[in-house]
Amino acid sequence: MSAVGIVAAAGSGSRLGADLPKALVPLAGRPLVVWAVESLLAGGVAEVVVAVPAADRAAFAAALPGTVQLVDGGATRTASVRAGLAAAGPAADAVLVHDAARPLTPPEVVARVLAALATGAPAVVPVLPVVDTTVVVDEAGTVTAAVPRASLRRVQTPQGFDRAVLVAAYAALEDGVELTDDAAVVRAAGVAVGTVEGDERAAKVTVPHDLHLAGLQVGR
Ligand code: CTP
Ligand code: MG
Repeated sequence: MSAVGIVAAAGSGSRLGADLPKALVPLAGRPLVVWAVESLLAGGVAEVVVAVPAADRAAFAAALPGTVQLVDGGATRTASVRAGLAAAGPAADAVLVHDAARPLTPPEVVARVLAALATGAPAVVPVLPVVDTTVVVDEAGTVTAAVPRASLRRVQTPQGFDRAVLVAAYAALEDGVELTDDAAVVRAAGVAVGTVEGDERAAKVTVPHDLHLAGLQVGR
């Protein structure tokens, strides 16, 4: 089995609020996207395509190895992944879709996803349990129900797919439909999505506090 990685890196990072695109924000001196790409390669992915903001292509090219292919991302994450998928070379029979915003994903998570695909799973996502009490509120913010959390999971990336399954699911998805992850795209096409154990270190950098925590993880 050979896998191509698609890294969604075309977002602006509005919640992080930096003065450059989130994927270019440095962590211990290296842009988040560089960490994310290295994690995929270290975990066993052979080839990487990164979807970038069109206006910042030169900065991404300067930061990443020349073997990494860059494509212009779209207005939504779904559109960015679609662009990356279209650009990926024909050799790979598996696809791992990853967020540049998860810089410290341990290579073992990547390897677990690849191993599940190698056993024939069409789609697999890394997950963690929900540890907080989780509730439903009404418009006023009043709690209306508590959700039994034993069967809930938080979903991370990279998410792995049989390539033909993911290509067919994106082809079946109407243009302009936005889903928050790729597992949702294949589930919309009726594909069963399996799970492997995620890792807290694969946390997503969304707000400044997350970047602070990531910095502590790498000793900065
Ligand atoms: N992403 C993308 N193309 C978009 C929007 C998001 O490739 N049009 C990517 C981001 O670069 C990020 C990942 O999808 O690596 C997860 O998205 P998120 O954490 O929401 O990042 P941003 O959209 O950049 O942040 P924000 O929503 O705060 O603006
Ligand atoms: Mg976003």
